Amino acid sequence: MKIAVLKETRPHEARVAATPDTVKKYIGLGCEVAVEKGAGAGSEISDAMYKEAGATVAASAAAALKGADIVLKVQRPQTGDKDEVKQLAKGSRLFCIMSAFQDKGAVEALAKQGVTAFAMEFMPRITRAQSMDVLSSQSNLAGYRAVIDAAHEFGRIFPMMMTAAGTVAPARALVLGAGVAGLQAIATAKRLGAVVSAFDVRPAVKEQVESLGASFVEVDPEATADAETAGGYAKEMSEEYQKKQRQVIHDTIKKQDIVVTTAQIPGKPAPILITADMVKDMKPGSVIVDLASETGGNCELTQHGKNVVKHGVKILAYPNVPSRLAQDASALYAKNLLNLLTALIDTEAGALKLDFEDEIVRGTVVAHEGKVVHPALGGKAPEPAPAEESGGDADEPSESEGDA
Ligand code: NAI
Repeated sequence: MKIAVLKETRPHEARVAATPDTVKKYIGLGCEVAVEKGAGAGSEISDAMYKEAGATVAASAAAALKGADIVLKVQRPQTGDKDEVKQLAKGSRLFCIMSAFQDKGAVEALAKQGVTAFAMEFMPRITRAQSMDVLSSQSNLAGYRAVIDAAHEFGRIFPMMMTAAGTVAPARALVLGAGVAGLQAIATAKRLGAVVSAFDVRPAVKEQVESLGASFVEVDPEATADAETAGGYAKEMSEEYQKKQRQVIHDTIKKQDIVVTTAQIPGKPAPILITADMVKDMKPGSVIVDLASETGGNCELTQHGKNVVKHGVKILAYPNVPSRLAQDASALYAKNLLNLLTALIDTEAGALKLDFEDEIVRGTVVAHEGKVVHPALGGKAPEPAPAEESGGDADEPSESEGDA
């Protein structure tokens, strides 16, 4: 089986889908690996390093893709003018972060091309799939980087410092949305010495926040009893709850120096948690880092891809934050892919097994045999697959995929 690793072509993308380490493992699984020239450059991985690991280096994407059964990418292939979907062979299997909710057109194009496409962001949140969860591996890094970016822009220090010339009070940091990114932001801000508080609609989070030494901002514990889906994600909250939440955040934010926002609802625009009026009431020189900017942002004044100053407050909205730590982000993403492929590759048969009864396969495959097949995208999971590919019935997808 041949695996092609392509160079990313989208702006702000420095990551790569395989590392020398994972290349060696694929070869150990009986695969042949072709890496497009320069694919690792943004992550400080040279072509020579891939060659040393046993891959061949192809001069172009077309050369890497020639005869490839499996294609590994970080982001979905481009459609439109720079059409990359057309380069993919019918029947090939593509693994990437699909951003399927934001770009259903790309999924449709892949289906039309006859590609079996796996959306890594749809990985079900089950124990068996934890090591394949790209949202976790990448959000964790983004949470760390958000605090480092905030510290860089902030005109003061984070820790309390008692010096001969006087005492400097610690910075106060508020984290809105304490999932994977938020918990890492809390831990990083704590390590730098800030006084940290956090808020989330999911009640399970309170204990996790407190165990990191931060305080939890309470809004309405009763209203949040039902705020979490079976897949561990947040639900959209009622208008009444959102009003209360805005009041509490407004009161809290006035005292903060740093605010990191990470709140997301899968498949929906990010909730607005910080209004323009709240920004007006913040201390001049404060910094907001909006990690949800790609899906609209948690702050009303966020401009995705730009760092702006509004009412004396710096609002940072870097595009593709994990890519700002490309070496680690690539290493973890490549490992996520390896863990999934290791589960799917049948080494004896020298083939990729597609068992649509498997929650992981059903949860992540978005296009197959010419059709969009994911229920979350309006598709229907495939019927029992041919004997050589699957063992049995593929019924309705489980709840966790619906949440993805
Ligand atoms: P996410 O990126 O979808 O959302 C980030 C955070 O924003 C979440 O904690 C969510 O509750 C919060 N949020 C949404 N709306 C909000 C609002 N209006 N106000 C305040 N906060 C709001 O979620 P993420 O971080 O990817 O994962 C959420 C949880 O899923 C994790 O904390 C964990 O418990 C679980 N998980 C389970 C895994 C597994 O079992 N394999 C793997 C990864 C995460």
